[in-house]
Amino acid sequence: MPQPYKINSIEEYYAAYNKSVQDPEGFWDDIAGYFLWKKKYDQVLEWNFEEPHISFFKNGKLNITENCLDRHLGTLGNKPALIWEPNDPEEHHRVLTYRDLHNKVMQFCHVLANNGVKKGDRVCIYMGMVPELAIAILACARIGAIHSVIFGGFSAQSIADRLIDTHSECVITCDGAFRGNKEVPLKAMVDDALIGCKFVKRVIVLTRTRTPVSMIKGRDVWWEDEIKKVESNGQRDFPAEIMDSEDPLFILYTSGSTGKPKGVVHTTAGFMVWTAYTFANVFQYSGDDIYFCTADIGWITGHSYIVYGPLANGATSLMFEGIPTWPDAGRFWDIVDKYRVNIIYTAPTAIRSLMSYGLGPIQGHRLDSLKVLGSVGEPINEEAWHWYNENIGKKRCPIVDTWWQTETSGIMISTLAGITPAIPSYATLPLPGVQPILVDDHGKEILENEVTGNLCMKFPWPGMIRTTYGDHERCRKTYFTTFPKMYFSGDGAFRDAKGNYRITGRVDDVLNVSGHRIGTAELENAINMHTGVIESAIVGYPHDVKGQGVYAFVIFEGSKEDMNMVRKDILETVTRTIGAIAKPDKIQFVNNLPKTRSGKIMRRILRKIAEGEMHAIGDTTSLLDPAVVTEIIKGKV
Ligand code: PRX
Repeated sequence: MPQPYKINSIEEYYAAYNKSVQDPEGFWDDIAGYFLWKKKYDQVLEWNFEEPHISFFKNGKLNITENCLDRHLGTLGNKPALIWEPNDPEEHHRVLTYRDLHNKVMQFCHVLANNGVKKGDRVCIYMGMVPELAIAILACARIGAIHSVIFGGFSAQSIADRLIDTHSECVITCDGAFRGNKEVPLKAMVDDALIGCKFVKRVIVLTRTRTPVSMIKGRDVWWEDEIKKVESNGQRDFPAEIMDSEDPLFILYTSGSTGKPKGVVHTTAGFMVWTAYTFANVFQYSGDDIYFCTADIGWITGHSYIVYGPLANGATSLMFEGIPTWPDAGRFWDIVDKYRVNIIYTAPTAIRSLMSYGLGPIQGHRLDSLKVLGSVGEPINEEAWHWYNENIGKKRCPIVDTWWQTETSGIMISTLAGITPAIPSYATLPLPGVQPILVDDHGKEILENEVTGNLCMKFPWPGMIRTTYGDHERCRKTYFTTFPKMYFSGDGAFRDAKGNYRITGRVDDVLNVSGHRIGTAELENAINMHTGVIESAIVGYPHDVKGQGVYAFVIFEGSKEDMNMVRKDILETVTRTIGAIAKPDKIQFVNNLPKTRSGKIMRRILRKIAEGEMHAIGDTTSLLDPAVVTEIIKGKV
C-alpha cells in the first residue's frame, strides 16, 4: 500500500505542520480518511486538559486488525508481514505473509473465544519475542479484549501487580524464552505470580524452549493443543469485533516518580492513526523495504513500531528474538545483511554497547542495504551518533533520533528521514500534530529560543494517553497538574535558534537506564523491603553504556558481618520485587541521609555525590545535619 499521507519534501513538512496547527480537525480528518472504518466518526476532536478528556474520531467504529491485516490481503497478501529471526542463528527463521498472519490471528481469536475471552476483558501477555506474541496481541485486538503485555524481564511480583490491577482472568505465556545463552523460565514465573491471583482462570502456554513446566489441571492449556482443536472444529474466519474509536486497545505499565507503575491506557482509532502516520513519515518507509526494530514488544516501542505502525502501513517488520551481543557483537549486522534490511531502529544503549567491541564485529558486513538509521529511548550522545553514522550508515543514511514516551504512544519530535535535517544529539522538529511548549518552573511559557525548559504539549494528538487504568485522577495529577492546561512530559529540553529540540533528560525522579524507565520511589520501596534496611535513596549517575547507572544509598541496621553478602541479598530482593533490570549498579551503605528539616531527602546532593561532582554540591546549610554529607562523601563507592 502506498502511504498517501507520506510527506515527501521539507516544503510538504512545513505545509502539513502548519495545517495541523491551524486546522487540526481538518488535518486529522484527511488522514483518517485513508483508514478502514465500519462507521465513520461524527466529530474529529473533543478535548479538555482539565479532566483530562480526550476523544479523537468520536463515535467512529472500526477494528484495528482490519486496518493492519484484512485490508492488505487483496494487494499484499503474499508480502511478508513479519520476518522472525530466532535467538540462535542456526535455527530456521520464519516468514509470515500478510495472509499467513491473518489466518493465524483468526485461529487464535477462536482459541481465545473458546477459552472464554470476550470483548472488554483484559488479557496479560508474558512471552518472549516469538511471532506468537504478535499473533496474541492482534487476536486480542480483533476480539476486542484489552491486552497488557508484560516485558519478559519482570519478576513474578511485577506480573502479579499487573494481573491484579487489570483483573485479568486470562494469561498468555511461553514455557520459556531464549535470550543469548540463557533460558528464561517464563511459565514458572507466571506460576509464582498466580499464587496470589486466584481469579486467573486460564493460562495459555506456547511451547518454545521445552523447559519443564507444571501445567495445572483446569487452568493451564497448551497453545498448540488449542490450535489443533480449532482446526478439527473447522473454525476459520473470525469476524472482527466492532470497536468504538475510544475503546481501550491496550494497557501498558510504566514507572513514574511515585509508587507503583501505572497502567497507561491507549485507545483504538487515535493510536492507530498516530502510529501509522508517524511510522510512514519518520522512517519514510516505501515499497518492499525491510524494516528492523530491535526493541522488545514488551515496551511501547515494540507495540507501536514492530506491530501496529508497520502493519497498518503494509510494511515488512523484522522481529528478533535474541540480543545484540550473542553469539557475538556482530549479530545485528549479520541480520541486516541476511535480510537486506533497509531501515534499522535501535537504542543508544545498544549502540554504545556495540561500540565497546570496536570495529571488528562490523568488518566483513556489507550493510549497503541500509537507508535509514533510527534511535529511541534516551538521548543519543554525540560520540554514539557519529559512530552509528560513520560505521553503520557509512555516512549515507539519515539518522532519526526519535523522542517520545509510553504515554505519547508514537514519535513526537524527530527528523523525518532525508526530509528534515538531522543534527547530532537533537531530536529536532515536532511532527505535524505536535505542539510542544517549553515552560519555566512556574509554568510560564518560554517564548525565546536558545533556552532550556520543561517540555510540555499544549494541544492533544491522536495517540496521547487517555487515562491510567482504574485511576483517572492519577493520570490527571501526574501529567496535567504540574503545569495547568498542559501535558507535562517529565523531560527537560533545549530549543535552538531554529526551533530544534534537544532533550536534556528527565526533570522528575525517574531514571532512564539502558532506555528503560525506573521510578526511584518504586526501587526504594523494593530495597526497603529487605530485612535490615531502614531507608534508602536512589539517584542516577552517568554510565558509559547504560546512559544512566543506578546508585543506591542504603541505611542498613541488620547484622553487618558480611556486607558483601548483604549487598547481594539486596540485589536479589530487587530482582524478586521488580526484575533484574532495576538492579542498582552501586550500593553505598550510609548511617544517615541528607535531609531537610522537614525530613525530605535532598536528592540533589546525593546526585552530585554519585556523579563525583563534589565541588558542585552547593549549599548544605538548610540540612538537618550537614555533617552527613561529609560522611557520605568519604564512603563513596
Ligand atoms: O526521557 C525520555 C526518554 O525516554 C522517556 C520515555 O520512556 P518510555 O516511556 O519508556 O519510552 C521509551 C520509548 C519511546 C522519555 O521521557 N527518551 C525517549 N526517547 C528519547 C528520550 N530522550 C531523549 N531522546 C530520545 N530520542
